[in-house]
Amino acid sequence: MFNVPGCRGRVRPAMHLPSSDSSEAEIHRLVHGFYSRVRSDELLGPVFERHIGDWPVHLAKMVDFWSSVLLGTRRYHGTPMPAHQALPELNPSLFRRWLELFSETTAETCSAELGARADQLAGRIAQSLWFGHQLAHAPDTLPRPLDHAA
Ligand code: HEM
Repeated sequence: MFNVPGCRGRVRPAMHLPSSDSSEAEIHRLVHGFYSRVRSDELLGPVFERHIGDWPVHLAKMVDFWSSVLLGTRRYHGTPMPAHQALPELNPSLFRRWLELFSETTAETCSAELGARADQLAGRIAQSLWFGHQLAHAPDTLPRPLDHAA
């Protein structure tokens, strides 16, 4: 599901939380709440509006993604790295804002356990997407971590 540059094979979280109707409902609330913030955000809103043609399809895909990474349900079969490498405008400020809105949403919509795991995974995946983006767009420059990049 998720390829990290320089690593063979696929990255899967070591631990999944138990899947249940209530954890699926939390993920649904998290994803819908998060993208509702994203869409009205000054910085991120325009980026998503430029690239997402069909919001219900994107939201359903993102529910499957978070259900797969948090609960191990394996419903998501996409490839996030090329999808983000293809976005020319990505930069560290956008990632930091994304993570900020995400953790505000987990704090509001998730249990402490699910929220903490979601925040931790989001931070790692954001870092990996940013490394992949830099490698794709500036292959001769050493990629920089999100917290050190300008
Ligand atoms: C600066 C931050 C980010 C921006 C602006 C962004 C933007 C986007 C956009 C526009 C798409 C749709 C691409 C398309 O359909 O062509 C997308 C897809 C996606 N994003 Fe992000 N994203 C960001 C960060 C993240 C992070 C941190 C994660 C995971 C924790 C993530 C997970 C995904 C996934 C799973 C998809 C679906 C890829 C697919 O299978 O088509 N994104 N993102």
